[in-house]
Formats: sequence, structure tokens, C-alpha cells
Amino acid sequence: MIELPGLSNVEKPVILAPMEGITDHTFRRICLDAGADAGISEFIAAEALVRLVEKSFRKMEPAHGNEIRWVQIFGNNPESVARAAKIAEENGAHIVDLNFGCPVKKIVSKGNGAALLQNLPLMQEIAKATVNAVSIPVTAKTRLGWDFNSLVAKEASMRLQDAGIKALTLHGRTRSQQYGGIANWEAIAEVKNNPALTIPLIGNGDIDSAEKALNFFKSSGVDGMMVGRASIGNPWLFGQIKAALAGKEVILPTLKQKVDLCRKHLSDSIVQKGEKRGILEMRKHFVHYFRGIPDFKPFKLALLSAETADAVELVLKNIH
Ligand SMILES: Cc1cc2nc3c(=O)[nH]c(=O)nc-3n(C[C@H](O)[C@H](O)[C@H](O)COP(=O)(O)O)c2cc1C
Repeated sequence: MIELPGLSNVEKPVILAPMEGITDHTFRRICLDAGADAGISEFIAAEALVRLVEKSFRKMEPAHGNEIRWVQIFGNNPESVARAAKIAEENGAHIVDLNFGCPVKKIVSKGNGAALLQNLPLMQEIAKATVNAVSIPVTAKTRLGWDFNSLVAKEASMRLQDAGIKALTLHGRTRSQQYGGIANWEAIAEVKNNPALTIPLIGNGDIDSAEKALNFFKSSGVDGMMVGRASIGNPWLFGQIKAALAGKEVILPTLKQKVDLCRKHLSDSIVQKGEKRGILEMRKHFVHYFRGIPDFKPFKLALLSAETADAVELVLKNIH
């Protein structure tokens, strides 16, 4: 069990991973409705939050309003990150997550995200300052290490535990792998099996089926899982994993269900962001809803070039 708000009664929670540009409150709501036990916000720059930049506050908006609000922050200055966490708490966050894993060049080049894997004392200091600044739980998310020559996740987990982090998510890749190769769940299991680790460990990487989730729960012993990319266009995956964990039948969505949810996602996105931006952002999702459907190319091109809700609808109603 993971002793965090909303999760302490959930055995083997399956959580929507934070994804910049994807896990806005519309998508988080869709995934929660589909069975995710929790969902984390897109990452928010501590420096932007302390400067009270409006976009940062929008990223913190709740999905339903009654769910656990788990807000992710990145930064490399302990004082700013701690202040940002306090602002998140004051704005209704129930849990703050610290990003120590983002591999993107423009983030790490400024010493943020996965760059902290090269400076574990600073990672620990940031975590400690944040834990001391807020009264809500603080969690962290990181990777196995900077590259294969510096697999430091075990040491990072100990330092974060010492700093007072309440749960750690480990993505089974190094920074240098970015999103390539295969997530190493044996390495995740090694960190989990360290007898000195007493905080819950959430495993992450490449979960794209209920079967894989079940196997990795069993082989690694992790306390929970985060699912990212495979949920895009397929939020049903959460319900499928939860069903498999409960020993129930795994049900696949029909094409009609896919069209209906894609339509709802678009209309919610437009309510949230307006027609132009709502449609633009949905272009990251459209194709994923219909992955694997034969002869989909003309529909794909039409969906990706549609500029109005009516034009999208014209395409959607012809997918059957
Ligand atoms: C488009 C995209 C955006 C992401 N943004 C974040 C982020 O803001 N914070 C974070 O901790 N991880 C971020 N990630 C990493 C995911 O949370 C996750 O760790 C990674 O995708 C591996 O899990 P998966 O194989 O289930 O996708 C992002 C991943 C993608 C693909």
C-alpha cells in the first residue's frame, strides 16, 4: 500500500504518469474516469510558479475537483522549488511531485530534471527543502541514472528517503536513453529489493497492456505503477489493468467507443482551451485513438488538417 492521499486503500495503484503537453486536466479526467487511481499534472517550472505565471496555475487546475491533486514541479534551486511547492499547496494540491527525470535538452541544460542525477546532494537538498516547506506529502520521480556508467537510482532512492520523500517513481531508463531502448524492470526490481528502502516504489516504463502490468508487478514487487505513453488514445488501459489485477476479464473498447471518446475529448478540450487551441492540442491524441485500424491513412490526414470542430466531426462520423 502507498500511504498517500487517495491511495492508502488502493492495492497496486495504477497512476497516469505526468506528461507535458498531454496530461492537462481534460486528459487526466478521461483517464480517471477510465480507471486510473490518480493522475499527475504536466510539469510546472518552480521559477514560473514563484513568479505567479498564469499558465503554471492553469496546469494545476483539478480534473474533476474531487480527485487527489498531484502536482509536479521542476527546478534546481531548493529555495524556489520549496516556495513553488508551498504555492501549489496553497492552491489546493494534495501531493507535490518533484521531477528529477526529464531528459529533454532544454530542461537538463539548465540543470533541471534528469540533470539532478549528476548531483545527488543537490537533489537531496531540493527534496529536503520542499518537504520542510509544506505539510502535504512530497514524492519524486527519476530515472535509473544519467547513463549506463552512472546507474545511481539506488543511492538517489536512499537520499530521497532520508530527505522525507513519501514515495518514489522510477522510470527504468537512463537519461541518455531518452525514450529509446526498453525500460529495464530488473533494475527497478533491484532498487525495490533493497532492504533499506522503506518508502513505496512506483515502477514506470513501457507498460502497454494488462498482461505486461501483471507480469511486472509480480517480477519487480513494486508498490504501484505509472503508465504514460500507452494511455494516449487508449485510456481504457487503466480499466484493463485494474480488471486484470482483480482477476476479471479484460475488455477491449469497440470502434464506436473510440470515436465517442475522441469526440468527447475534443469537445472538453475546446471548452478548456477554445476551438483553435483545443483542436491543435487534440492533434497529439487523434491518431492514437485509432492506432492499428486498417486503411486509416485518409482519416488520419483529414483529422490532422481539420481546423474547426465541424470539420473534425465530419471525419469522425465516417469512422465506423
Ligand atoms: C510527451 C511526454 C511528456 C512527458 N512529460 C513528463 C513530465 O512533465 N514529467 C515527468 O516526470 N515525466 C514526463 N514524461 C515521462 C513520463 O512520465 C514517463 O516517465 C515515460 O513516458 C515512461 O513511461 P511510459 O513508457 O509509460 O510512457 C513525459 C513523457 C512524454 C512521452
